[in-house]
Amino acid sequence: MRAALFTQVGSPLEVVEDVQLDAPRAGEVRVQVVACGVCHSDLSVISGTFPAMGPTVLGHEAAGIVLELGEGVTSLQVGDHVILTPNAACGTCAYCIKGLQSVCASSMVIATSMLPDGTSRLSRNGETVFHGLGVAAWADEIVVHANGAIRIDKDLPLDVACVIGCAVQTGVGAAINTADIDPGDSVLVLGAGGVGICIVQGAAIAGAAQIIVSDPSESRREQAMRFGATHVIDPTEQDVVSVTMGLTGVGADVAFEAVGSAALVEVGIAAVRSGGTTVMVGAAPVDQTVAFSPVMAMFSEKKLVGSLLGSCWGPRDIPRLVALWRAGKLDLDAMVTARRPLEEVNEALADLEAGRGLRTVLMMS
Ligand SMILES: NC(=O)c1ccc[n+]([C@@H]2O[C@H](COP(=O)([O-])OP(=O)(O)OC[C@H]3O[C@@H](n4cnc5c(N)ncnc54)[C@H](O)[C@@H]3O)[C@@H](O)[C@H]2O)c1
Ligand SMILES: [Zn+2]
Ligand SMILES: [Zn+2]
Repeated sequence: MRAALFTQVGSPLEVVEDVQLDAPRAGEVRVQVVACGVCHSDLSVISGTFPAMGPTVLGHEAAGIVLELGEGVTSLQVGDHVILTPNAACGTCAYCIKGLQSVCASSMVIATSMLPDGTSRLSRNGETVFHGLGVAAWADEIVVHANGAIRIDKDLPLDVACVIGCAVQTGVGAAINTADIDPGDSVLVLGAGGVGICIVQGAAIAGAAQIIVSDPSESRREQAMRFGATHVIDPTEQDVVSVTMGLTGVGADVAFEAVGSAALVEVGIAAVRSGGTTVMVGAAPVDQTVAFSPVMAMFSEKKLVGSLLGSCWGPRDIPRLVALWRAGKLDLDAMVTARRPLEEVNEALADLEAGRGLRTVLMMS
């Protein structure tokens, strides 16, 4: 099978034809990948920010068509169109039982780059190949757990729907699931990439009156205004905390860090009002830590919360996000600023690194 393979930190990916894909086991499905977005988390594996365990097929923002059902799969049929989600919540672990499907034990696949049962269906010349961030969709086909393949209507374009898999679940979900935005609230979004722009859209859906966005990239600030930001800040020219204080009076109700930097989490904490919440969406390097004074937190009642895939549970949230898209309340079409064949994966990654466009989608055929 053809796939884009990561083998070494800093090296370009290699599109190879000889990756072996095993048949789906019980509870799993084999999916023909049609389209898969390029997310900063893929880039973080390539740059070494997230350590990889071995050769890996990346790509975790995908949509495709079900080709084969493993034993016992009744929720899907061959030919179904599906969005893949990295978190295939099991429904039975302690977290799922508490209604916390987004941190289901299965979500560990995002860190282990395996399937939920701890094994891989991928290999090359007898060597195990990892399922990047639990999916591995920069490939013609992939096997995933059926809980991570969410059926969608066949009239939806898969080359746009795929961005729901990561950027949209993560960004819109952070705003409408993780954060508690009330109509009329003020929101600060640090970073206006694919994820940050989805936070902007989610904050607008939640009824935020002020959506302040900080990004050093002029084109990303322009995009933010197009997607619903009310104010933009260039952090290289202006102090984000003072501008936010000036615009809101007491600080933002909610701040989102969508870059992947502990220092920016601290900016968020400083920029929210007493009792306000800072949501950590960006994936900072594993060795970074946030300095946060307990006594300041005690006096201010400021809250700090993490958000994995926007606290989404695929079966509940993907249909909800599709409905918002159909209703014209979520603009996904304009998020896909380029489409490239799989062979141009390195060019797509270079565009992401340079902040060109917003989301590139790799097309498998
Ligand atoms: N929580 C999750 O489940 C989850 C899911 C997907 C992605 N992520 C993480 O979210 C982050 C964003 O991903 P993305 O795909 O949108 O990345 P991206 O590269 O498209 O966007 C990052 C943006 O941050 C901006 N930026 C850089 N420095 C900044 C600064 N000092 N202040 C403000 N903005 C700054 C860049 O100009 C860029 O526009 C990454 O860390 C990624 O790994 C987390
Ligand atoms: Zn992602
Ligand atoms: Zn579970």
